[in-house]
Amino acid sequence: MSETNAIVIFGASGDLTRRKLIPSLYDLYRKGRLPKNWRIIGVSRSEFSDEAFRDHAEAGVKEFARASYDAKTWREFAKNVSYLQGDLTEFEQLQAVDRHLCEWEEGHGGNRLYYLSIAPHLYEKAVANLGRADMVHETHGWRRVVIEKPFGHDLASARQLNQAVHQVLAESQIYRIDHYLGKETVQNLLVFRFANSLYEPVWNRNYIDHVQITAAETVDVGHRAHFYDGVGVMRDMMQNHVMQLLSLVAQEPPASFQAESLRNEKAKVFSAIRPIRPQDVAKCTVRGQYRTYRDAEGVAAGSTTPTFAALRFYIDNWRWQGVPFYMRSGKALAAKSTEITIFFKRPPHLMFPMPEGDKPAPNRLSICIQPDEGIHFSFQAKVPDTPAEMRTVEMSFHYEESFGALAIPEAYERLLLDVIKGDASLFTRSDAIELSWALIDPILEGWDSKYAPPMNFYESGTWGPSEAEELIAHEGYHWTHGCGNDTEDSERP
Ligand code: BG6
Repeated sequence: MSETNAIVIFGASGDLTRRKLIPSLYDLYRKGRLPKNWRIIGVSRSEFSDEAFRDHAEAGVKEFARASYDAKTWREFAKNVSYLQGDLTEFEQLQAVDRHLCEWEEGHGGNRLYYLSIAPHLYEKAVANLGRADMVHETHGWRRVVIEKPFGHDLASARQLNQAVHQVLAESQIYRIDHYLGKETVQNLLVFRFANSLYEPVWNRNYIDHVQITAAETVDVGHRAHFYDGVGVMRDMMQNHVMQLLSLVAQEPPASFQAESLRNEKAKVFSAIRPIRPQDVAKCTVRGQYRTYRDAEGVAAGSTTPTFAALRFYIDNWRWQGVPFYMRSGKALAAKSTEITIFFKRPPHLMFPMPEGDKPAPNRLSICIQPDEGIHFSFQAKVPDTPAEMRTVEMSFHYEESFGALAIPEAYERLLLDVIKGDASLFTRSDAIELSWALIDPILEGWDSKYAPPMNFYESGTWGPSEAEELIAHEGYHWTHGCGNDTEDSERP
């Protein structure tokens, strides 16, 4: 048999496997993108026969795959899907998995992707066991380990985890996943910035007034309350997804499209962000909790876990000095919307006759990450048949219109394929993880101290506590709501 490619999913009975991993692998198969001689082996503690696991996976594909389900394609795909009951934190059970793989590989070795879709507190043990069972040596084929978020709980634990995995694996074998980086619209940020010559010359403090990044969700914590209560919005969304968006907006142009080049620029941005000191959190951050949060099963009585956060960062470098970056994220908000909006400075002088106190809105570029994927640029136009009256109008790009309704693949599709290809560009390197935690830690520390801002409660279905509006209003701005749909404009008076 020629080179084999095993995709081993640990924690295969979980939601992630059914909703994201198997449907994405199915879509890759359908597109003919999986390598030759591939096989998926689900491993977890639950009892499943191969057949029962395939049925479980098939239901996931029917519900979540991007392409419509096709019975014939599924049957072909499912031939390569099997299941083994086992716990990778139990050494002997892991050895049994290895024996099973070796048998399939006919003793020739082979490529292996190990996906850790398991509880984060088991990562260290899991990786240590993979090493102990001699399953990560790359003498015959590559061995790569995908580690889901959260990577650590704070800087100290992230560091410890990095050290532990580095004892067993080379950095090039570790793929720390942040599914936001697999989103088309997020990848497009680099293309938009660096494959066009129009924006880069104005992408700096001379022309940009401020930046807003919003990752809003309508869902509440639901059945994840037990997990979420020990985590909160800063660890669940800010430290990873939102910080990644910030890094892509703010980074310098990489010299090449190679993983290390891209990751170096990201690390530089994180290093340049001015940390919010614990004693400054009341000035620079807002925290909130939706009113019914504490009623959810799994939430501790009187829990102070924030489900909403808004904050302001500055980046201390030549490009961004003095430009505020406002970021917010929350659950149970008014809309599901992830967007980045760049507000440009106003023209230095306006010669047009305008009513006293009136100012045209500044140019605004909204990058809609989801759900209405696209980019909107708003600018002033003269209202026809008036002497010089102005109105804000918009130029828009929608993925759906330009590329078709099914153009956008599931983020995991791209990420899984990249692991198979050995391209780590869209995965977080150890230094970036630690740098990002180093920015989040002092905020959490401040929130736990006498300097903490009050916990603000907000109604579900709103845009969070009014204090978030005050944070930004203080400097004369207001948050944009809904990508490209906001009629008012954030502006400095
Ligand atoms: C996950 C968080 O990483 O991202 C969830 O743990 C959150 O709490 C989810 O709901 C949001 O992802 P997306 O792709 O729906 O924006």
